[in-house]
Amino acid sequence: MKKITVIAAGVAMIGMSVGSTASASGQVTDVKDWNTGEGEQSVAMTLTPDRENGIEVYEVCSACHLLEGWGMQNGTFPQLAGQHRNVLIKQLADIRALNRDNPTMYPFALPESIGDEQAIADVTAYIAALPMNPDNGKGDGTNLARGEELYKKNCPQCHGDNGEGNQEKFYPKIQGQHYAYMLRQFEWIRDGKRRNANPDMVKQIAEFSNDDMRAVIDYTSRIAVPAANLGPIGWQNPDYD
Ligand code: HEC
Ligand code: HEC
Repeated sequence: MKKITVIAAGVAMIGMSVGSTASASGQVTDVKDWNTGEGEQSVAMTLTPDRENGIEVYEVCSACHLLEGWGMQNGTFPQLAGQHRNVLIKQLADIRALNRDNPTMYPFALPESIGDEQAIADVTAYIAALPMNPDNGKGDGTNLARGEELYKKNCPQCHGDNGEGNQEKFYPKIQGQHYAYMLRQFEWIRDGKRRNANPDMVKQIAEFSNDDMRAVIDYTSRIAVPAANLGPIGWQNPDYD
């Protein structure tokens, strides 16, 4: 009963926020304004995570991201498993604060649904420790040499040589992520639709054509994830029955 009311309220708020953010527009344009750590993000980072509550909260998330946190190859839902915890905290706090539009998830991510900053601390620690999907979605493999060239020229300074990202700097791990999800995000970042995106990445990829974009993301989707970070094929999360 209670949950349904909360979701309805969330959906009503989305309607309002879409109208207001559309006019405010506002992809961050100066890197000084990116990742200011305001609001819930800095609070969540100081709290000690509680694993049991992390499992409890993650059950809500699993409706879309699946119990294993592996997401879907078709890109509808990203893999979350194994992502740097700082990245998860930032993205979740940004989504809750409407700094990153995610109307599908928004009502489920609100404090009324999962709890305050402690819930962010708990669920992100839980997710970051999950083993990753050994079979992420890939592109069509037709332009990999070009993709590799573009990657090496434009991406390692932030995402690392192997797409491993950077926990301290809040740069996402992109190795092992689904192709279709990454393609959508990359396009939104290039075209100014992911408002919380790092402005230096936006500049770096501004001249990418759609073909360049597909090539570099296809290459990225094939970067090997270290075996120690992968779950076995068909792994089922033993924390749920
Ligand atoms: C109703 C479906 C749904 C639910 C429930 C849901 N999510 Fe999501 N989540 C999504 C979608 C869809 C995206 C990708 C949005 C996009 O493409 O911009 C996403 C993206 C994310 C991202 C960003 C990932 C990245 O790589 O940047 C994080 C972090 C995340 N979700 C965490 C959570 C957590 C934690 C919960 C539970 C509290 C949760 N989600 C519940 C649908 C959902
Ligand atoms: C200046 C640093 C920088 C450069 C260069 C850069 N990125 Fe990023 N990238 C980021 C940051 C930071 C984010 C997360 C932005 C945010 O806070 O929402 C991101 C997000 C992404 C995402 C979305 C990840 C997710 O989980 O949602 C993809 C995909 C991506 N980058 C791919 C690339 C590729 C491919 C290149 C090279 C062509 C590249 N980036 C170059 C910093 C960079």
